[in-house]
Amino acid sequence: MLSGWLRVILFSVVCLGGFLILFLMYYKSVPSRLCPPHPAVSVSYSRKHENSSLSKKQPEKPMMLLWFWPENRKFDFSDCATLFNIDGCHLTDDQSLYEEADSVLIFHKSIKNDLTNLPSIRPPFQEWIWYHMESPTNTVKIPGIENLFNLTLSYREDADIPVRWRLTARKGMGEDFVLPKKDKLVCWIVDDNNAETETGVRSKYYSELVKYIKVEDLGNLRSEDYFSVLSSCKFFLSFENSIHKDYITEKLNGPLVAGTVPVVLGPPRQNYEVFVPGDSFIHVNDFPNAKAVAEFLLKLDKDDSAYLRYFQWRKNFSAQRHLVQLNQEFIQAICYACDHVGKHRDYRVVHDIYKWHFG
Ligand SMILES: *[C@@H]1O[C@H](CO)[C@@H](O)[C@H](O)[C@H]1NC(C)=O
Ligand SMILES: *[C@@H]1O[C@H](CO)[C@@H](O)[C@H](O)[C@H]1NC(C)=O
Ligand SMILES: *[C@@H]1O[C@H](CO)[C@@H](O)[C@H](O)[C@H]1NC(C)=O
Repeated sequence: MLSGWLRVILFSVVCLGGFLILFLMYYKSVPSRLCPPHPAVSVSYSRKHENSSLSKKQPEKPMMLLWFWPENRKFDFSDCATLFNIDGCHLTDDQSLYEEADSVLIFHKSIKNDLTNLPSIRPPFQEWIWYHMESPTNTVKIPGIENLFNLTLSYREDADIPVRWRLTARKGMGEDFVLPKKDKLVCWIVDDNNAETETGVRSKYYSELVKYIKVEDLGNLRSEDYFSVLSSCKFFLSFENSIHKDYITEKLNGPLVAGTVPVVLGPPRQNYEVFVPGDSFIHVNDFPNAKAVAEFLLKLDKDDSAYLRYFQWRKNFSAQRHLVQLNQEFIQAICYACDHVGKHRDYRVVHDIYKWHFG
């Protein structure tokens, strides 16, 4: 039997409880105006400190160790941020940090034939990246590295980290293109291989071509003159040193930047068109022989409106200057690797790297 007092108290408690519940429900459903919504919880990408993913710390950047300086051309790692806005990893060349490094970037050409200059132990979380930008023709096979790597860095589009200079799409209309002043017809630069001794397709084609048209060898251009001198040529021979899928180097990018028409020798036209518009270059394969190419160039030299059509693509795309100084040669690839490891945590085992590279 409940007394009158007890009933009153019980009733009040029930009422208060109900009120409280209603209040709480209301309170929860009103979005807070003061606090921004919480970001989705991001999983820390540190593997070796699995532990710290529970703490509220910013996920730390993975560490990438550059095992060799390619051809001893050093640069300041902060260039990745200043030149490419890349800051996704902690880059180091300090080999004593090896055991902590999440990724190790290994320049193929620096590996000794007996592998004695590679690390011997290997932490289980660590990924090794094979860094090689040469075509199969210019690749020396080092035995024993076929199954050492987890990622590939190459000029090839199907590499884990493909590296090349790309056109960028223009937003809106670009400013009207003004053709640079021209005082040379056809130019080229003999670089990696000596034209006298080279026996490849490139030098055969070149020696055939010069029978019908004058070609200026720009020789050893100073890097600061590279783009301006290229601009003064109507055509530039973008002849690759060997012919392989995707092996299209900055020999193409240079004239596109400079306002010069590239005459290309390399993989088939369709492969070029993956990267640049089909009307931005002249492909030697579109002609029966070098003589026909020369005649075509001489004809274009007399036909300004036909020549200018090779610059139409600039309405929709722009080319960016690649780094031309010798000591800058490896910056792009190393920075791209840093960007990749900062963004992707998945890696794999590359089986038979040579089968892939040479295949
Ligand atoms: C985190 O690591 C510390 C030592 O570094 C260890 O004592 C602790 O048990 C770990 N905690 C978890 C949740 O693994
Ligand atoms: C990386 O590659 C090596 C060599 O093939 C392999 O032993 C290792 O398990 C791979 N690492 C990961 C995390 O997949
Ligand atoms: C540029 O892009 C526009 C729209 O995508 C297209 O219609 C036009 O043909 C392109 N022009 C050139 C020269 O490629």
